[in-house]
Amino acid sequence: MTNQTGTSLYSRLGGYDGLAAAVDELLPRLQGDPQLGVYWRGQNDHTKKRGRQMLLDFLVSALGGPAIYHGQDMRTAHQGLRISNSDWTVMEGHVLAVLDKFGIQGREREEFLGAAASLKSDIVQA
Ligand code: HEM
Repeated sequence: MTNQTGTSLYSRLGGYDGLAAAVDELLPRLQGDPQLGVYWRGQNDHTKKRGRQMLLDFLVSALGGPAIYHGQDMRTAHQGLRISNSDWTVMEGHVLAVLDKFGIQGREREEFLGAAASLKSDIVQA
């Protein structure tokens, strides 16, 4: 996932710190959402921190950064959670709000949303 000058989307989104800031903006929105919050209910703080690190590692790795993702593949990670199309749409709304907040527009926004959309059939299984 590089542009014509070979710069990864990871770098163009601000590298590790940029992605970490975006994840830290996104996860509380998802966990506090009236429809989506149920998926994290009952997780202790450590489990939430672990999930945050897994998501960050996944993004760094998937977007061309220097990390190895050691977690489950997306189908396995979300198997049995019964995430619906409607849940996906709500999640997308939060992602768009985070992209807005960080001023990610144009090509980087399109590439990021395209990468996320490519995961939908593995994650929405309800
Ligand atoms: C509506 C959308 C989504 C919901 C509700 C959701 C929910 C969850 C939940 C509850 C877990 C923790 C499962 C557990 O260990 O108990 C999880 C794990 C994970 N999710 Fe999602 N997720 C969504 C979309 C995504 C997307 C779009 C990505 C990637 C960009 C993603 C990446 C991950 C990763 C990396 C893990 C950790 C896997 C592991 O522990 O090995 N999720 N998700």
